This record gives sequence, C-alpha cells and structure tokens, in this order.
Amino acid sequence: MKIKIAPSILASDFAKFGETVRQLEKNRADYIHCDVMDGNFVPPITFGAQAVAAIRPHTSLPLDCHLMVTKPASRIREFADAGADIITVHVEADPEHVIQNLEKIHAAGVKASAVINPQTAAEELFPACEIADMVLIMSVVPGWGGQKFIPETLKKIEAVRNFCTKLGRDIDIEVDGGITEANVREVIAAGANVIVAGSTVFRSPDMAATISRLRG
Ligand code: DX5
Ligand code: ZN
Repeated sequence: MKIKIAPSILASDFAKFGETVRQLEKNRADYIHCDVMDGNFVPPITFGAQAVAAIRPHTSLPLDCHLMVTKPASRIREFADAGADIITVHVEADPEHVIQNLEKIHAAGVKASAVINPQTAAEELFPACEIADMVLIMSVVPGWGGQKFIPETLKKIEAVRNFCTKLGRDIDIEVDGGITEANVREVIAAGANVIVAGSTVFRSPDMAATISRLRG
C-alpha cells in the first residue's frame, strides 16, 4: 500500500499556517493533518473550521481534519464547507452514532474516517471499517503533541488491518501520536499506511529529508 505522510500543523507556528502548508507541499507531504480540539472532548482548544477555510487556498494537498470535539455530528457541515477532504470523528465522542456520523460525512461529499483512543479496544472500530474510507488509531492520549508512542498500539493496528483484509476492504489505516523515524517502520509493518507526525516533522532541521525518510 502507498505510504502517506500527514504532518500535523499542531506542532507548527499558529501565526503562519499559510506559509507552513505551502512548505509542507513543497517538501512532499501527502496530507495536511489538522488537529481540531474544542476544550471539551480534550482540554486544549486549537482551531476550528474558520482556520481550515483560511488554510484551504494555500494548498492543494488533502486537508485531513481530526475532530477532537464532543457532538461531532453538529460540526460535519462546517468542516465540509471549509474544504476538508477527510473528516475523522472519535468513536468515544458519540459511540451510538458512529455509522450515522460516517454516513453524514459521506453525504457532505467528504471522505469519512473514525478514530479510537489508546484506552479503546480495536473491536470498537470494526463496524466503522465496513464503510469508512480511513480509520485512525491513536498512539497517544489525544490533546497534546510531543508525547511518547504507546507500544500496545501496534497490536491494535494489526487487529484492525486483519479485520479489514477479512472484509476485503483495502482502506487507509492512519496512526497518530509519538511517531518518529525510530518507530515508524514497526507502525507500517503492523499495517498502517497513513502516518501522522507533528514534532518529528516540525523539529527537523531538514523537513524534506525527514518526510522522505518517514515514508521509507
Ligand atoms: C494529538 C494529535 C496529534 C499530534 C501528534 O492529540 O491528534 O495529531 O499532533 O503530534 P506528535 O507527532 O508530536 O506526537
Ligand atoms: Zn491528530
């Protein structure tokens, strides 16, 4: 499967999003990962659909919007209108309506994805695997960049990839949190193909080389 690198602008200078996404595109990132935090589902507040709309004209790369928000259903329309290409909703934010939320994202003309936290079992993502374009497995507790990768995530990636293979669904599996050049090969070997990287990309002295090495 094609490996895609999705740098998270959470680790970048919030005063320079336009410049940052142009630089990421030039340095051959595949997606722009936008970490939306509402101060409720997770303690920090980052940015919302208005910022995504402001970024939109600065890049043709897909905007991969990870919604760490309560009541994600009520936010889908505004992110679709802002120009999101992928919208990811947390299973934990609305466990009863994961499928309906994915259908709502599709109805808005956007690729649909669901995500589980480190404390949530891989099985909780299985129903989403039937209809999602992508699923995301958190490898840190969401809310902050620069944390340490939780190694138990590898087994969950394998379980979700095996389940998708059994279904005959060759979907993207994204992993988010604590990914470095030292652990990315294991993450890919476990079955992930979309790699989020915040601090690894933005702390690098040579962003293009780091993105290329993460891709392998
Ligand atoms: C955490 C965010 C991540 C974060 C990753 O809540 O979802 O996308 O930015 O940052 P690093 O790569 O620094 O762990
Ligand atoms: Zn994220």
